[in-house]
Amino acid sequence: MKRIQLFEFEDYDWFPTWLRTCMTNLINVLHKLLGVSDVLANLVAQALIKSNAKQIVDLGSGAGGAMPEVMKILHGYDRYKDVNLIMTDLYPDDEMVAKFNSQYNPSIKYHKSPVDATDIANTPEGLKTMVNSFHHMNPENAKEILKSAQENKQPLLIYEMGQNNIPLLMWWLLLPISLAVMMLMVLFMTPFVKPLTWRQLVFTYLIPIIPICYAWDGQASLPRMYTLKDMDVLLEGLETENYTWEKAIMYRKKGKKLGTYVMGLPK
Ligand SMILES: C[S@@+](CC[C@H](N)C(=O)[O-])C[C@H]1O[C@@H](n2cnc3c(N)ncnc32)[C@H](O)[C@@H]1O
Repeated sequence: MKRIQLFEFEDYDWFPTWLRTCMTNLINVLHKLLGVSDVLANLVAQALIKSNAKQIVDLGSGAGGAMPEVMKILHGYDRYKDVNLIMTDLYPDDEMVAKFNSQYNPSIKYHKSPVDATDIANTPEGLKTMVNSFHHMNPENAKEILKSAQENKQPLLIYEMGQNNIPLLMWWLLLPISLAVMMLMVLFMTPFVKPLTWRQLVFTYLIPIIPICYAWDGQASLPRMYTLKDMDVLLEGLETENYTWEKAIMYRKKGKKLGTYVMGLPK
């Protein structure tokens, strides 16, 4: 496998939830900058049609990512008007839960207790989505998730907006520069975080814990991502008469690559 198992700060249970949220808030900004919601809405729409699902259960939602925007796009079409979204995370943030659950939008909810993506069999019915969260699973858990979706006949859509496509040696050589660039990026992205809290500001510009952790986790995410060939290894033996898998690179409207996906569908 090309993927390697590096650590990310946000994977540790001792890592403060508010700090994890400050980092996932920045991922929300990145989603907007890159236009992830359009690409993802397209994929989610296909998965909904092919699986006949009316509910989306997002695993590893963080600060929501592109999913709320995807729902806005889908609800613009009559066909998807009845679709609802439940966001979940292993480390749900009470403030994030309150933010989404207090908005008058009955079709989007954030589950307040922890949901482990590896326990897919015990999650609510519906299309399971994992957006930028599958690389957090080690190969054993990753395979378990795929197997469980297939055995329980649950549709599953995995999307990663990045790609593990540079040689590992190059990644290590470029690491000091990449970390510096990412830390700088955080300084420019922070004003676009919504809602912008005092913690996000203080721990970015006065005590720069957020830029340091975000830069490391962002860089470490790349070699942790499963390439499409790695996915072949994980999917070995999981294709059955009753369940199919498809996977590909995704492209923006202008033809530029924007991540990869794997879709598992009961027939
Ligand atoms: C990189 S963030 C992605 C957040 C969001 N989906 C997005 O695209 O912006 C990864 C999220 O996965 C969550 N996570 C990590 N391991 C998990 C697990 N085993 N089960 C559920 N969520 C998990 C983390 O808490 C974090 O919020």
